[in-house]
Amino acid sequence: MSIEKQSIHGQWSSRWIFILAATGSAVGLGNIWKFPYIAGENGGGAFVLVYLGCVALIGIPVMMAEILMGRRGRQSPINTMAYLADTEKTSRLWIGLGWMGVLAGFLILSYYSVIAGWAMAYVFRSASGAFVGQNAQQIGDMFAAFIGSPEKLLVWHSLFMLATMVVVARGVKEGLEKAVVSLMPLLFILLAVLIGYALSSGAFAEGFNFLFAADFGKVFYLCESVNGVETCRFTFGPILTAMGHAFFTLSLGMGAIMVYGSYMPKNVSIARATFWIAGADTLVALMAGLAIFPIVFANHLEPAAGPGLIFTTLPIAFGQMVGGRFFGSLFFILLVFAAWTSSISLIEPAVAWLVENRGLSRLRASMVAGIATWAVGILTIMSFSDWAFSFHFLGQKKSDGLFDVLDILTANIMLPLGGLLIAVYAGWVASRKLSRDELAMGDGPAYRLWYFVVRYISPLAVMVVLLNALGVFDSWLS
Ligand code: PFF
Repeated sequence: MSIEKQSIHGQWSSRWIFILAATGSAVGLGNIWKFPYIAGENGGGAFVLVYLGCVALIGIPVMMAEILMGRRGRQSPINTMAYLADTEKTSRLWIGLGWMGVLAGFLILSYYSVIAGWAMAYVFRSASGAFVGQNAQQIGDMFAAFIGSPEKLLVWHSLFMLATMVVVARGVKEGLEKAVVSLMPLLFILLAVLIGYALSSGAFAEGFNFLFAADFGKVFYLCESVNGVETCRFTFGPILTAMGHAFFTLSLGMGAIMVYGSYMPKNVSIARATFWIAGADTLVALMAGLAIFPIVFANHLEPAAGPGLIFTTLPIAFGQMVGGRFFGSLFFILLVFAAWTSSISLIEPAVAWLVENRGLSRLRASMVAGIATWAVGILTIMSFSDWAFSFHFLGQKKSDGLFDVLDILTANIMLPLGGLLIAVYAGWVASRKLSRDELAMGDGPAYRLWYFVVRYISPLAVMVVLLNALGVFDSWLS
């Protein structure tokens, strides 16, 4: 018999609400803002293929593991790990996994909120008609001027953090559940409208090929010009980025999905829910890519333009299409909303812990966690203006500024490490009975396949990529 326990924070009303909330966490800036620009920076098709492979072989099994651990523990990830340490008779060192998750969520949200602030500002730009009749150069200049104004970024970052704190303070169930139901489908529809525009841009085939035609040679070589001579060397950086992004986009490896799982009703199939969440998340990312790259090529823009990519491409489309002011504002509103439903899950593990262990009300806990995150976000804002510096970190093709350091540290290192530990815990450390009971798939081929993958394939894949990125195998490769 499995142990039935309830979370003190409440429970999702139904299976669909859990799926929607977790999809709300997964679908966010990662899909629409980050996926296109990292695909652009890393050469397109081959990178996309590696990313899809990581979602299938690592993301899906680890998500199932993370949800099942959360649902058994029914508390913040830190306390869930403590509870599992007791019931599964495992070392208390595993509680560190919960702590690392809280830290990762805090660091991610600090810059996530800054980018969400850009999207907020762009709602108003679009509504005011600022994009109408502007060419690619003018749109690019507008963006550069915007991110070079720290005071503007600070205002929007503060507003977004406030919005996050308000919802988290009220409890995730109130309001958010209902809003997700109507806004998520709208985001799909709007992306489809944008793909329609991209189809008419004259460069759809080029965009499509960039995204789906795999040219592995382009992805795995880092070329630099030294004293006028171009030298290329093999790099594992793009594979690390693709794997890190699989974790980031599925909200894995830091306890966000674990804490959402802790509010999940007992009778819901974890496997089925996971397929829905991962499927919807991947679809949104590919749709965003299909909407953006044709516009990039039609306007002779640079796919490797970096974090500004969607802000310098989509406004061109909005400035030209019929009803562009309306569609543009709506698009950025939906993007803000998608970011909002993700930011809540980034801070929820910390808030749940503050409520459980420090006896704070949700309001106070949200304020403490929110204000601390807001303060760290200021560093990211500075890094976009005059505090930028430039270097290559762990074989990345391009890196400049503190924002990149935070991004690489969290998405490419902390989340994969968290995911690796989750897979090891579920596959090796905890009893097989724990996963068998929670997954409730019987002991048939489906369960056995999952168990095999989470035990061998996922941890090995993460380990190989992480060790490679740290240069452990460098001497073998050169
Ligand atoms: N999955 C979110 C996105 O793609 O934008 C970001 C995110 C949310 C990452 C929650 C990690 C997390 F725990």
